[in-house]
Amino acid sequence: MTVRIAPSILSADFGRLAEEIASVERGGADQIHVDVMDGHFVPNITIGPLVVAAARRVTSLPLDVHLMIAAPDRYLEAFVDAGAAILTVHAEAVRHLHRTLTRIRELGARAGVAINPATPVDVIREVVAEIDQIIVMSVNPGFGGQQFIPRTVEKVEQASRLLQTSGSVAAIEVDGGVDASNAAELVRNGATILVAGASIFGTDDPAAATRALRSAADAASAR
Ligand code: DX5
Ligand code: ZN
Repeated sequence: MTVRIAPSILSADFGRLAEEIASVERGGADQIHVDVMDGHFVPNITIGPLVVAAARRVTSLPLDVHLMIAAPDRYLEAFVDAGAAILTVHAEAVRHLHRTLTRIRELGARAGVAINPATPVDVIREVVAEIDQIIVMSVNPGFGGQQFIPRTVEKVEQASRLLQTSGSVAAIEVDGGVDASNAAELVRNGATILVAGASIFGTDDPAAATRALRSAADAASAR
């Protein structure tokens, strides 16, 4: 399976957002990862549906919207209307996960569940049929540019096994501290989508950084 690259605009220059998105598109990005934070579920505040809609207008790539917000049910419709193709909620932020995932699909988006570093993979077991992607967080969510937590590799492998035994084809996205140095190991353990913020937009040439991450990932999938 080819690995998908999802640059996270969290580390982009928001004053030049259209150009930043165009540069990773030139570099071969598969989807744009959009980090929504509310100052409650995570300490940081970022963006809302307005910026998702603005991104929607400047790219044809799917928008992969990662909701790091408390009680996300209140905003599912707003984010799908704004243009989210994939909408991911945190397992830790939702009381009725099955209901929330079902609702996301009813709205016409693909449904994702994100799990924090302290949350066991098993939390998705009973809702596997309702999931199009799992985001295995490899940092504690809230900020870009944090250090990758090595234990994540094992969780990616566990997620891969769980999906396989359940007959699920859901994607496994890894988010936080991903760069060309850990991409291959993540892919070997089952990652199918790599999110990268600082290692792409923190460089002088986001297009080249996108290509570099892809070749690091492809080196593993070709083995
Ligand atoms: C972290 C966000 C990530 C973040 C990744 O809370 O969910 O998507 O932007 O950024 P890097 O790649 O810089 O760790
Ligand atoms: Zn994210």
